[in-house]
Formats: sequence, C-alpha cells, structure tokens
Amino acid sequence: MALDESNTFESLYSQGQAIRRFPDEEVVALCGRQRGFSVGLDLGAGSGRNLIPFLLSVRCQGFVIASDLAPSGLKSLADWFCNHGAVKVTPQELLTDAAELYSNIQVTGDHCIYAIQRRASGGMDPLDLCSIGADSETIYLITLCAPMQHLFLNKDSVDIIVNRGSIFYLNSDDIQKCIFVMYSILKPGGTCLVSFKSDHDGRFLTGAKQPESPTVRIVNEGAQLGLKLEFFDLERVNRSMSIFQNIKVGHVEILHPTASYAYADWIVYGYKS
Ligand SMILES: C[S@@+](CC[C@H](N)C(=O)[O-])C[C@H]1O[C@@H](n2cnc3c(N)ncnc32)[C@H](O)[C@@H]1O
Repeated sequence: MALDESNTFESLYSQGQAIRRFPDEEVVALCGRQRGFSVGLDLGAGSGRNLIPFLLSVRCQGFVIASDLAPSGLKSLADWFCNHGAVKVTPQELLTDAAELYSNIQVTGDHCIYAIQRRASGGMDPLDLCSIGADSETIYLITLCAPMQHLFLNKDSVDIIVNRGSIFYLNSDDIQKCIFVMYSILKPGGTCLVSFKSDHDGRFLTGAKQPESPTVRIVNEGAQLGLKLEFFDLERVNRSMSIFQNIKVGHVEILHPTASYAYADWIVYGYKS
C-alpha cells in the first residue's frame, strides 16, 4: 500500500510525537545575517523548531509565515506560542503598517494570524521572546496549511524562505513545482535555503530497496510508518535549482547515533537577483 507522507507526519504530530528541537544552525546564521527583513517563510515548518530565529530577526511589524501540510504540527506550534503570550488576531485587527504588508503578501487558504510582543532589547532565549510591557514591539506569525508545491503567496513578496528537511518527501514533479513556487514568491534580492537529501546518505548507499532510481523507500523502526525519500547527487541539485541566478551548495553529514552510517544533506542557498 502506498503511504501518504502528509498523513504520516500528521499522525506523528497528532500523537504528540514531534519533538521541538534546537533550530538548525544554518537557519540561525541566515536569519542573523538578514536581520531586519520584512517577511520570512518556513516551508514545511513541522512543529516549528526553526521559527525562533525568524521571529527574533524579522523587523518590527514584520511577518513570519509557518507553512505545512500537516495541520496538527501547525496547531502544536501555535499553541506553544499562545502559551508564551502570542494572541490570535484577525486581518482587521492588524495595525495600519502591518495590514499593508499583509495585503502585499496576500495569504490565501487556511491560515491564522498571531501577534507576538517581542522584547525590543533582544536576547536569544526563546522563552524570552514574548514580553508584555513598554519594552516590546509587535511582530506577526501566520500559520498556513497548504502543500508547498501549490502554495499561493504574491509574486516577489518574501525576503527569506527556508525549506529544511522537507522537499525530498515530494515526488520529482512536485519538487520542481515547489522550486518554481519558491523562486516566484521570493523578492528580487531575496534568499532561499533548501536542504536536499544527499546520495552520500547511508540509507541511499547501503540501505533500502530502490523502487525507482534515485528514489529509495525507508521504513522506520516498528515498520508502521514509512517515508519515501528522493535522493540527489550534486548534478541533480544544480539542475533542480538552475532557475536561481546564483546558487551556493554545501554538504553536511551527521553520524547516526547508533547505526554505522551518516545522514547526509546538501545545503543549498538560492539567490534571486
Ligand atoms: C522532517 S519534517 C521537517 C520539519 C522542519 N522543517 C524541521 O526542520 O524540523 C518534514 C515536514 O514537511 C512537511 N511536508 C511534507 N510534504 C509536504 C508538502 N507537500 N507540503 C507542505 N509540507 C509538507 C511534513 O508535514 C513535515 O512537517
């Protein structure tokens, strides 16, 4: 039976099995470099581990959009922020500046908006993010439930896009559609960060059966949930991202804590001029 990846994640999130870990260091570095941006998008945000660097670096009155196909992941991250002081708002309740920016993004589909009072004096402790009082500034978080390959936001409306650990769950056609979507919604001068599963990953080199090259199917311990992954060699990474005017490719390998192989990802920056 074919397994539906979105349902696999939805079932993990709805059973509370998604742990919010530390943010990815590339995302922390990118957000730090682009500090003061207006609109950031985390595509395939999951339960939101990468949102904190976005929310710490976006400009006052700016927007961070967390998009995913699995509603339970988005609900869990929204609940977490609401438990730390975020408040749900309607578009009509946005302040004038933010309403203008919001209409430029043109969020359509199933979404919610949350206002967060961020401590203006900064600080990197996530629990320090929300602060009610004089020393605070408002930023906005939008949760958007949509497939990344069919996401609709205005062309040229987003400064930074992060797609970390997500795109390789799509099939080849949808991966290309998603890259086109990212390029289209990115502002000229904007940056997107995408991670692709690498052909140096131990699961590709040694592991599982390959139903179609270069695709491999892996099955989690317990064999109840399965995830199909697309693996990329460098040539395919370059070809897939060729719509961008400039790309920069890095590679990371992390040893599996118990097995004798490494997880490996291509870390790719795409720049739109
Ligand atoms: C391994 S998680 C990564 C989450 C997060 N980016 C991180 O770095 O922790 C992959 C996420 O991609 C989402 N996803 C899979 N297919 C998707 C699609 N077609 N559109 C949007 N999200 C999708 C899943 O629901 C899941 O939350």
